[in-house]
Amino acid sequence: MKNNEQPADRKDSPPQSTGQSRSEFSLNRRTFLATASSALGIAAAQMVFPATSATATSVPNDPSRTPGKTSSAYGTRAVFVETQRQFFSTRSLTPLQHLSGIITPSALHFERHHNGVPVIHPLQHRLLVHGLVSQPMIFTVEELKRFPAQSRIAFIECSGNSGKEWKEPNGTTVQETHGLTSTSEWTGVALTTLFQEIGLKPEAQWILAEGSDAAALTRSLPLASILPHALLCYAQNGEPLRPEQGYPLRLLIPGWEGNTCIKWLRRLKLMTHPAMTREETSKYTDLMPDGTARQFTFEMETKSVITSPSGGQQLENPGFIEIRGLAWSGRGRITQVDVSTDGGESWQTAELQEPVLPMCHTRFRFSWKWNGGETILQSRCQDETGDVQPTLTDLIAVRGFNSFYHNNAIQSWKVTKEGQVNNVQI
Ligand code: CO
Repeated sequence: MKNNEQPADRKDSPPQSTGQSRSEFSLNRRTFLATASSALGIAAAQMVFPATSATATSVPNDPSRTPGKTSSAYGTRAVFVETQRQFFSTRSLTPLQHLSGIITPSALHFERHHNGVPVIHPLQHRLLVHGLVSQPMIFTVEELKRFPAQSRIAFIECSGNSGKEWKEPNGTTVQETHGLTSTSEWTGVALTTLFQEIGLKPEAQWILAEGSDAAALTRSLPLASILPHALLCYAQNGEPLRPEQGYPLRLLIPGWEGNTCIKWLRRLKLMTHPAMTREETSKYTDLMPDGTARQFTFEMETKSVITSPSGGQQLENPGFIEIRGLAWSGRGRITQVDVSTDGGESWQTAELQEPVLPMCHTRFRFSWKWNGGETILQSRCQDETGDVQPTLTDLIAVRGFNSFYHNNAIQSWKVTKEGQVNNVQI
């Protein structure tokens, strides 16, 4: 990621989140009256709608008196919903502050690619498996779909997520600070199933996975570590993968940095040693304070963030606010999330929404009464291995300031007396 990247089109940047956050927090009399009058079909003509692309849509005063639209072949969201990825040339960010539950809609899953999203005809695509195998083989996507299938819900997080937050607060919104993580249901064939068919030679220790995008993105992965979980995926949230998620075939290593989940997968080579590709030497390594670099840091660490209220949002009135957020770990299940509403002086346990799945976003909630004063909101999670999300100070004490990847530090959101929510570091 480069710092000089600009939004591809400012008009397509998401609207300031204050617009949408108002509806979440406006439990006040004015909103109640507007809602009530709209429900009764009165005074709707005087209602002021926010300016959206739906402005041109004819909105009946009373929908119960006008026949609705007929059925359609492929659904679209309500014209009033404009939640968007924020996009740059080689990445786009999931709008975590506007999502509910744990599943990211496929169209809002974050993107990261190194030379664009390729167009691949599913009938032309091939997967070559070779190297230290009993018999090299080439598969079509249809052949892979004939194998017994597996589905699982898992997050994918770019190891560069929150990288720009290392030295100083950078992003305004949680989309900008944490938007390179998303969760989908993935379906495909287990790598072990495929290898039962092919047969591996005993000296096979590493596997090279290569994409067919114009970057031919390539990573070496330790075979024993990935075999229990790796999936060759052709479907996401019930339908074929989105092009930007690797259509027609991608690798999924649940819990590992997104870069290892090779998209547009065309080749797997079994080897004795890692290939030392660009993406595991000059990139995706972690430079430590002593000048050495950590290499092959695959697991995404225990991490959480409050998505609401979060940066750029506006609290309207003191009173009840449900704090909502996401927690995840590349090592297993989230077991606990604590929330602080006083800048880390005290912590209280948040409620976890089922299902709580391993290597998956977990939704947490915490009831809070804002007294109208200035304060700082934080979340801190723990996973089933006992790993606890660190403070930024603790992270920097170990990793120094050379690092960029794998920032899983606690995020702080400052609430001002005026109800503004800002990204801060404490
Ligand atoms: Co890494």
